[in-house]
Amino acid sequence: MVGFLGATYDWVKAAHVIFVIFWMAGLFMLPRYLVYHQEGMADPAEAARWIERENKLRGIILTPAMIVVWVLGLALALNAGIADGVPGLGWLHAKLAIVFLLSGYHGWAVGYAKKLAKGRMSVSNRALRLLNEVPGLATALIVILVIVKPF
Ligand code: HEM
Repeated sequence: MVGFLGATYDWVKAAHVIFVIFWMAGLFMLPRYLVYHQEGMADPAEAARWIERENKLRGIILTPAMIVVWVLGLALALNAGIADGVPGLGWLHAKLAIVFLLSGYHGWAVGYAKKLAKGRMSVSNRALRLLNEVPGLATALIVILVIVKPF
């Protein structure tokens, strides 16, 4: 499938990066919402407002953007020859591994929002704040891999 995108390659890559920005914006926002939500659990009216914000963020931005990023990213990866044994794609395999972990983090954050909505907390405020750093770290590693292509 190497090169099957032809002249549309640059457009697909541009769309990929646009939806990456939407997904990452959501992934920076939701964990911060979780911190405020958890800290405001004592006030039912405030908790209800955070539940609504989290649901909107998830339904309108986070999950749709993740799906589009995966579809376009896989098209770019197939175009680059990931399924045809093309050499020199170590950076892409490493990137895919990090994006898998990031998608797992997405699932965890969405799941934790649902847990908070039921009034259950299982992570300390401090741990929740530390977990906020995961998307930033993943973004830095992914961008270095796709731009520098160190291996
Ligand atoms: C969901 C799975 C993903 C797959 C399969 C994927 C795959 C790809 C591929 C094959 C390219 C083309 C690279 C090239 O030709 O040089 C690309 C470009 C890019 N990707 Fe992804 N990607 C994914 C997710 C992400 C995420 C989560 C980020 C950022 C956090 C990201 C950031 C970028 C950037 C910035 C480029 C443009 C690099 C350039 O200037 O060529 N991607 N992606």
